[in-house]
Amino acid sequence: PETGCLSIVVLGASGDLAKKKTFPALFNLFRQGFLQPNEVHIFGYARTKISDDELRNRIRGYLINDKSSSPEQLEKLSKFLQLIKYVSGSYDSEEGFQLLDKEISGHEVSRNSVVGSARRLFYLALPPSVYPSVCKMIRNHCTNKSDLGGWTRIVVEKPFGKDLESAEQLSNQIGELFEEPQIYRIDHYLGKELVQNLLVLRFANRFFLPLWNRDNIENVQIVFREDFGTEGRGGYFDEYGIIRDIIQNHLLQVLCLVAMEKPVSLKPEHIRDEKVKVLQSVLPIKDEEVILGQYEGYRDDPTVPDQSNTPTFATVVLRIHNERWEGVPFILKAGKALNSRKAEIRVQFKDVPGDIFKCKKQGRNEFVIRLQPLEAMYMKLTVKHPGLEMSTAQSELDLSYGQRYQGVTIPEAYERLILDTIRGDQQHFVRRDELKAAWEIFTPILHRIDNGEFNPLPYQPGSRGPAEADELLEKAGYVQTHGYIWIPPTL
Ligand code: BG6
Repeated sequence: PETGCLSIVVLGASGDLAKKKTFPALFNLFRQGFLQPNEVHIFGYARTKISDDELRNRIRGYLINDKSSSPEQLEKLSKFLQLIKYVSGSYDSEEGFQLLDKEISGHEVSRNSVVGSARRLFYLALPPSVYPSVCKMIRNHCTNKSDLGGWTRIVVEKPFGKDLESAEQLSNQIGELFEEPQIYRIDHYLGKELVQNLLVLRFANRFFLPLWNRDNIENVQIVFREDFGTEGRGGYFDEYGIIRDIIQNHLLQVLCLVAMEKPVSLKPEHIRDEKVKVLQSVLPIKDEEVILGQYEGYRDDPTVPDQSNTPTFATVVLRIHNERWEGVPFILKAGKALNSRKAEIRVQFKDVPGDIFKCKKQGRNEFVIRLQPLEAMYMKLTVKHPGLEMSTAQSELDLSYGQRYQGVTIPEAYERLILDTIRGDQQHFVRRDELKAAWEIFTPILHRIDNGEFNPLPYQPGSRGPAEADELLEKAGYVQTHGYIWIPPTL
């Protein structure tokens, strides 16, 4: 691993993302020894004029629960907080960034007992409207200048634009300032344990190799459900809607990993090359294969316009035009204010030809990868019902992580992704051409929604979403197993 001074700069340090995700992830990395106090310094940058201690106090409560923490943990926390320094300035002022650079350089000089390079990581926990100006300021004033080498990297997060055109514009603006290997576009779903497992599962198991195609798989569902509404984020959400918030990025990334061909190697570029090919093979979305919904009460949020037609729910069928997947619907479904909270991939296999057991009613083989909560993989299969009679029943082979990996902590997505940015591994980040291809798929339908030509159906909060979505699912060929439900094992 590289050594030498590492400066992590969190821009938008007092915002929601920084408090809830970025700083906790940094603290966890620190706690596990991935950030060495003799090398690392953390800078918070934002407009508000506050002191170092004020920033530390603001984030403290998100890092640890003071009451239930052991003295060792509290000690770690205070050591971590001591690494944080705050600089205030605006997002387009030269002075602010000059000051920031001075602080970073000062830290680099004070650490010069550690021989090595100077690494500068800029994490933009900011709205994308300021990305171009902030990137320009970083480029002009804050890049690494050490003679001993090192690097400057920036980390950005969605929304990367609102459609193909605006996304490309943003990519161009940032691309003029930084090279692609310096830009880390986060999609936090790529940091989830079971999403990362997809590659291993698919390409290291003989079981799956011959089955993973149109000859055996009837349909694939990638589902995201939340049992709460847009609570407090109505203003942001209404501008984007569920397709831009969840489907065009998180679910589409998962789709790529489910559908892609085997990469030449595990090199980030090889993996991303394969993902791009999948995206480029997706056919235009058909209107009759889309159901949009909006939960009743969504517009009561004072930050949401009374006439809003923004979808909070969508089911979209994607069709991949290639040799492996022709004819297999990939059903992407996401919704807010539904009856449960979970994210899963559901691969449904075809019926057994010439079935002698008449077990069709029992349901098909399904391989389910449950991303959250209660991470698990299970295979639904038909077995003989134990007992004297020869009857069949639906059962499962179950790999539930909580049970199988007791005592193992599954890292937070952000923790792992930030570590990758420090290590320079772009495998789990979205490449520019990937982003473009993703926007190409959804831009036509998004424009129609924006123009009021495609409106959502109302649904009850706490329901499964509009009934029409289940009909679409059925039309696409999904067969629900009645009378069987997978129950996560209790420890
Ligand atoms: C974010 C979306 O990207 O992902 C939110 O903006 C959503 O609307 C969140 O709630 C879900 O993430 P997770 O990790 O809780 O599934």
